[in-house]
Amino acid sequence: MDSALCFSPSSHSSISLTSLSYLQATSDAKNLRTISFRKWNTRKYMQAIGRRYTIRSECITDQAMAVDTSVSPRANSLKPSKTMVIADRATALKESGVPIIKLAAGEPDFDTPKVVFEAGINAIRKGYTRYTPNAGNLELRKAICHKLKEENGLSYNPDQILVSNGAKQSALQAVLAVCSPGDEVIVPAPYYVSYPEMARLADAKPVILHTSISDNFLPKPESLASILNEKSRLLIICSPSNPTGAVYPRELLEEIADVVRKHPRLLVMTDEIYEHIIFPPAKHTSFASLPGMWERTLTVNGFSKAFAMTGWRLGYLAGPTHFVAACGKIQSQATSGASSISQNAGLAALGMGFAGGETVSTMVKAFQERRDFLVKAFRELKGVKIAEPQGAFYLFLDVSAYYGAEVEGFGTIKHSESFCRFLLEKAQVALVPGDAFGDDNCIRISFAESLPTIKEAVERIKKALALIRPKIPF
Ligand SMILES: Cc1ncc(COP(=O)(O)O)c(C=O)c1O
Repeated sequence: MDSALCFSPSSHSSISLTSLSYLQATSDAKNLRTISFRKWNTRKYMQAIGRRYTIRSECITDQAMAVDTSVSPRANSLKPSKTMVIADRATALKESGVPIIKLAAGEPDFDTPKVVFEAGINAIRKGYTRYTPNAGNLELRKAICHKLKEENGLSYNPDQILVSNGAKQSALQAVLAVCSPGDEVIVPAPYYVSYPEMARLADAKPVILHTSISDNFLPKPESLASILNEKSRLLIICSPSNPTGAVYPRELLEEIADVVRKHPRLLVMTDEIYEHIIFPPAKHTSFASLPGMWERTLTVNGFSKAFAMTGWRLGYLAGPTHFVAACGKIQSQATSGASSISQNAGLAALGMGFAGGETVSTMVKAFQERRDFLVKAFRELKGVKIAEPQGAFYLFLDVSAYYGAEVEGFGTIKHSESFCRFLLEKAQVALVPGDAFGDDNCIRISFAESLPTIKEAVERIKKALALIRPKIPF
């Protein structure tokens, strides 16, 4: 029995059998005479006729029992989200009875506002349980246009809005829609974990623009200018930033716009999901509102953070029609429209008033109180460098002064990962290593937890740090 093999020359290492699609073989695509099947003991010979291949019958009989567990090169090369790995590890420890305090998660500890979840429940009761248009319900897209006009000074029509299952999906689709293989995606570091991986998924190259804690983790326009070239396709701006809480001041954004303007191919994706979680005097500016930037900017936003709606999975993209249409095409073949129930809830969230009204500002005040407590507590600690976050709910601390220290009963603290492991073991506090965000000198503390819990965590951290003798005394 012969069977045809499909082979795409551009996918350099993966071949699948049309009649046995679960079977994958790896080989050098350009020199395809012998294909070694993973998990198989023997080499199977195949005859190549043009781009079709025949396979000897014993291969088919042999494989009846075997399942090839290899995955595609694309999936293989992708790093899993480290924030999720650590959050999962801490959850597992907690479930096994260890009294872990988790300050690792990127989600507010508040409940979804009542008016929002009631809208979700009503949507179910009223039977809004069917597919919506791919781009999202028109009413919601109109409300998003209204919000963008009132709060951000941006004019869009509903065709220029694409509602998705979270801002993460919006961002990924934007990267996939505009980047070609070999393009460069400029990612200021520390960065949100997913940006470099999104670039890789688009076969583009993430180019990391490093920033310094002494500059409050803000990029220097001249450093940006120095790494741009004709391959530069997308600059990603995240303000307020996860993981640093840095907020790009308007003047800096204007200087960045001056640099961007000199590069006709360069687009900008701004992730504004934390825009409402901002501490005065910091102010949020939408990059697309700057002169000449609307045409080049893809604005990503979502409901997860400000409205404590992480589980509802609702985000959106706003941008020029042709880019949004391209993103819509990707979405139409991937997930289709976001949940009809969540869209109704999102509409209610936008109805809560300017920037989420009183309910959101109460949450923001709580975040600010926690921020103030943490900043004061860590400023008192020797060996820790700090840049006061101006927004979001994270503190990004430089703890590199502790690296190289030997700790009895633990070993050497070598990097941010071992520092966090040390705190998980000795203080039972779960934080995220800065390595996940492209800065191994630092660790991220999320203050999306109640103040008493945060205070307890700080006590535990201080006690654990007292066990460390730094290599070079502070
Ligand atoms: C900067 C940033 N963008 C996007 C997301 C994802 O948001 P969503 O829940 O809407 O997918 C997160 C979540 O942590 C984030 O921190």
